[in-house]
Amino acid sequence: MTDPRDEALTPKAIVAYLDRYIVGQDKAKRAVAIALRNRIRRRRLPEEMAREIAPKNILMVGPTGVGKTEIARRLSQLVHAPFIKVEATKFTEVGYVGRDVESMIRDLVERSVQMVKQRRIEEVREEAVSRAKERILDALIPPRKVQEKVSDFMHLFSGQPPKQEAVPTEEDERAERQRLSTRERLRQMLDDGKLEGREIEIEISESAQVGIPVMGAPGMEEMGINLGEMLSGIFPKKKKRKTVTVEVARKMLEAEEAEKLVDHDAAAQEALEKAQQDGIVFIDELDKVASAGSGHSGPDVSREGVQRDLLPIVEGCTVNTRYGPVRTDHILFIAAGAFHKMKPSDLVPELQGRLPLRVELNPLSEEDLARILVEPEHSLLDQYKALLSTEDVVLTFTDEAISEIASLAARMNRETEDIGARRLHTMMENLLEDIQFDASELSGQEANVDGPLVRQRLERLVADTDVRKYLL
Ligand SMILES: Nc1ncnc2c1ncn2[C@@H]1O[C@H](COP(=O)(O)OP(=O)(O)OP(=O)(O)O)[C@@H](O)[C@H]1O
Ligand SMILES: [Mg+2]
Repeated sequence: MTDPRDEALTPKAIVAYLDRYIVGQDKAKRAVAIALRNRIRRRRLPEEMAREIAPKNILMVGPTGVGKTEIARRLSQLVHAPFIKVEATKFTEVGYVGRDVESMIRDLVERSVQMVKQRRIEEVREEAVSRAKERILDALIPPRKVQEKVSDFMHLFSGQPPKQEAVPTEEDERAERQRLSTRERLRQMLDDGKLEGREIEIEISESAQVGIPVMGAPGMEEMGINLGEMLSGIFPKKKKRKTVTVEVARKMLEAEEAEKLVDHDAAAQEALEKAQQDGIVFIDELDKVASAGSGHSGPDVSREGVQRDLLPIVEGCTVNTRYGPVRTDHILFIAAGAFHKMKPSDLVPELQGRLPLRVELNPLSEEDLARILVEPEHSLLDQYKALLSTEDVVLTFTDEAISEIASLAARMNRETEDIGARRLHTMMENLLEDIQFDASELSGQEANVDGPLVRQRLERLVADTDVRKYLL
């Protein structure tokens, strides 16, 4: 059941992948790599053994802006398992703006269903493409039956007896041969892309969501009931005639045919299974629902409430979704938080116990910051270079400039608040403001950023304790 592509994900391969985007934080990378690999290992065991092996949920702790969310983001792109990321804070005001905690499992299943459907649609693609093509041809030159039915229908009004269908006349046959050969010629033109702009009329079913946007009562979602979907089940799917170009029609018809070819019940079953066996939930900002001990009231009550609601889910319970019930025992939970004011020990004890694997992420040093500027794939510097290259401006940085930026960023982090790599973003914006503003007129030129330029633009700002609070 595990995606065969994931078999290649050894711990080393996972770490190597993360290394491409994230500087340092080796312990965290190793921990998530092991946790992911153990899921693949578990799947190779006989069922009664596999049942016993619960995932080792992880708690990533580290200051702000050092790569916690980034690790999650990259993992989600790497694994082919259903993966979702939620912020714990969004559950704090349930019934008002927040959502109930179980909704994260429903979102996971939803994600899983999307993945499975996408794969299955891919599998039937060829068939869908060919069916769509026939329908386009039908629209360009309608099949004979339709023509006859229309004329029969007209006879009812004209009062004349309908044509005898049983014996096609010679003329009929000739017309039919003619029609078929025209159809083949059109098929060729279609294949050659000569009809893309031609307008045709097609009949397409309106998708359920577009038709009836219905707001459910707050509790409805909890039970996994989707009003819009229920209603669309009651009313027959509406068909709508539309006049569109061949190009647009092809997209719509291919999507509709693929939708018809996929076995939705089987897809839902597979998706449920995948979510419960391979699903990964990343709970970000967990520290924001830790509370500062008892004796407080107000927001703390709801924060602790969120933790209490999380307990059974992390422990293993059944959540109802609109595709059916899901057990959460084998879903892997990775939680993260800065735990800046709060400590992991401020979480309710049971929840601490359910996140047994602690990994700490380190604050970023000056060297780390310098590496973050250049090393990751699509690093910050690469992004600016790429943007300016669209205007034919070559942006370059000297080594001195890079170490100067890192050193000033590290100093800002030391002297004001440590916001980790995020500091680099604000500094780069300030540094490159003029170049970005002027770039459109610099076409064909090189814009070089060197040490003196960095000092000139940033040092004064960094030194000015009043101004820097606002600008950097
Ligand atoms: N170690 C790192 N290597 C490369 N880039 C990093 C690293 N740490 C942070 N960044 C970059 O800094 C930004 C913020 O990082 P991220 O969102 O991971 O912070 P965080 O640890 O989740 O912080 P918070 O606790 O505030 O949520 C991202 O753009 C990320 O790419
Ligand atoms: Mg984060």
